[in-house]
Order: sequence, then C-alpha cells, then structure tokens
Amino acid sequence: MGRDELLDEFDEAFADSMDPTGLTVLLSGQRGMGKTVLLDAYRHAAETDGWLVITESSSSGLLDRLTRDHLPRLLQQYSGNPPIQLESADLEVGPVGAGGSWTDRYPAESTLRSQVTELTDALAPRGSGLVLSIDEIQAADVEELRKLGEIVQYARREARPFAFAAAGLSTPIEELLDHEGTTFLRRADHHNVGRVDRPDVRTAIAQTIADGGREIDAQALDRAANTIEGYPFMIQLVGYHSVRNQKDGGPVASAAVAAGIDAARRRLGRHVHTPALRPLSPVDRTYLLAMAQEDGPARTRVVAERLGVTPPQYAGEYRRRLIRDGIIEPAGHGFVRFTIPYTGDHLREHAAHDALGDMNGHDSADRP
Ligand SMILES: Nc1ncnc2c1ncn2[C@@H]1O[C@H](COP(=O)(O)OP(=O)(O)OP(=O)(O)O)[C@@H](O)[C@H]1O
Ligand SMILES: [Mg+2]
Repeated sequence: MGRDELLDEFDEAFADSMDPTGLTVLLSGQRGMGKTVLLDAYRHAAETDGWLVITESSSSGLLDRLTRDHLPRLLQQYSGNPPIQLESADLEVGPVGAGGSWTDRYPAESTLRSQVTELTDALAPRGSGLVLSIDEIQAADVEELRKLGEIVQYARREARPFAFAAAGLSTPIEELLDHEGTTFLRRADHHNVGRVDRPDVRTAIAQTIADGGREIDAQALDRAANTIEGYPFMIQLVGYHSVRNQKDGGPVASAAVAAGIDAARRRLGRHVHTPALRPLSPVDRTYLLAMAQEDGPARTRVVAERLGVTPPQYAGEYRRRLIRDGIIEPAGHGFVRFTIPYTGDHLREHAAHDALGDMNGHDSADRP
C-alpha cells in the first residue's frame, strides 16, 4: 500500500468509532524509512477528528507514566468526575499482602483500566476518543506490552473509542510478535513501511527546497530523484545539502546536487550504515562485501562462489540471517540487494580504508 492510501486510511479511522478498523495500527520498517513521520500523521488525523492523543516512548515505566501522569491529567480536563477518584486509585499502588484482591495485586493494570474506562466514557458521547501512540515499540518491555494489550482488547470488546498506534524496526518487531502476550499486535493493521515511489521522491525534494524558499532546476531534480532510490532518510538530506551547496542563492543546479549527494551519503554512513553494520559477525560482513562487488542486485549463486564456503549451503544460511536482520532483501528469484541504499558503496569504501588502516582518519574527515 502506498503512503497516500495509508494516510487516507488514517483519516478514515476516527470518523466512525464503532468500526474498530484502523484503531490498532503497527508500522514496521528499516531505519529511516519514515515510520515516525507516518506515526505523526496518524496522530494528526486523530486530533483533526477531535480525539485526544498520548504520545509516548517505549522506555521502561511506560505504564506508570500513563497511570500517574497522562491519564490523570486528561481525566482532570475531560471527565466530569472530581479527581478524588484518582487519588483513591493511587492509594492502591504499593506493597500489598498476598491475599489481596485482583485490584490489589495488579494496581497498575486495574488503575489503567479504570482510567481508560472513565476517560472513554467521558469522550464517547462527544464523538471523541483516546489514542495511545508509541514509537520505537521494539524497545518496549514485553510485560508492559502484555498489560497494554489487555487494555486494547478490553476496549475492543466494549467498543470503546481507544486507539493504539505503534512504530518500530522490522526485525525486532517480528521477534516481538513471536512472544505470547503480544497477540493484540499480531491482530493489528500491520503496515510495512518501505521505499517511496520515484514521482513522490521528486515531489518531496521539490517541496523540501521550496520550503526553504529556494528553487531547483528540472535536470538537477531528476538527478537527485534518481540517486535517492526511494529512501526517505536521503530525501531530506539531499534536499538540504544541495541547497547549501548552491551558494549564490540561485536555483539549485546539478553541480550543487552532486555535492549535496556526497554530503548526504557521508551523513547516511555515520548515522545509518555504521550502526547497522557494527553488530554483524566477520562472516556476515564477508557475505556483504561479496555482494558489494555488484552495482545492482547480486546473484546469490555468484555471491556463494565468491565466498568459497563449503558446503555451499552455508552461504544460504548467511543470506537468510542477513535478510532476517533487515540488512539485505530478496530482489527477484536468485537475487538479493541491500535494504538501505548505498550500503554497498559504504562497505567498499570502508573495506579500502580498512586495508589502509585508516578507519579513524576517515571518520574525522567525514564531519561536515
Ligand atoms: N514520505 C516522505 N517523503 C519525504 N521525506 C520523508 C518521508 N517520510 C520520511 N521522510 C524523511 O525521512 C527521514 C526519516 O524519517 P523518519 O524519522 O520518520 O524515519 P524512521 O523510519 O522513523 O527512522 P528510524 O528507524 O531511524 O526511527 C526524515 O528526515 C523525514 O523527514
Ligand atoms: Mg523513527
């Protein structure tokens, strides 16, 4: 599904709160594919329809922040009931004996449930509801997620206007989905956020440049769009650095775009490639270097030959592992390519620098 369709779905999600489609959304993708931007759009769609939004990260203590900070604040504003109820809910937090009730034993969960109940009771008659949005969900504590999942499922059973939207990295999310306790996420509208179509890339670069009060000539725009390979992280960067390189303030021309692309690629290397490749084992890197000898997608058979591993099936295992980790992806039968553009160039450059023992020198020369 393209981004425009996704944005349309977001817009529709809050129009009819009796229809739960679009109220549990999971966005996954590689670094820099635009997940956070889409999550922002989801929240914006909700706010436009008058829903309240809680924006959170998945750092630990999420449940506490919800029950002690966000929800009491919203309840005070939007529920007619006096805040005394909240204080009594708070009193339930603390050490309790083994013989306590469910409420005593699970204070955070029961508080969360009663707060969501009260708030959605107050919002529903106004045609409004509550959105909980969590970015970098892959870092969430599974136990906290399980508790949130119970609230989501409870809200669905009772047809409450409560939406849950999360975004995070593909592979860790796949692992998260394997956990019991994340059933609610498996049932979510799960969208894989991938590359942007070329026409949209073109529009986005032109827009970035226009936002800065500048222009770009058509040829230069084509050149920029061609090199970005649909990767959102590069759109902003190339736009920004191209403008900076057209120093006379006139329309951005091809030479400035070329310089802008170089600058953008150095940033991409530092912020995306280096951290993504750092955890890999030497043998995985060898596989990637064998791939990097091709300019486009690499034939897996050729890569295996270059590796010279025996038995040859080992190459298939490395390939599967790298696909699982989101570093490479299948590109038609018998071919693989790098998930993030310019990974091959980055590997080739660094292989050369490694050979010269010049890794550190390269990094410092990189700074803008
Ligand atoms: N559809 C788009 N068109 C143009 N630029 C975009 C688009 N989506 C995202 N971007 C730009 O790409 C960059 C990365 O976007 P974003 O931060 O949303 O990615 P992400 O997937 O959340 O990355 P990370 O995994 O690192 O959190 C940002 O500079 C953003 O402005
Ligand atoms: Mg993000």
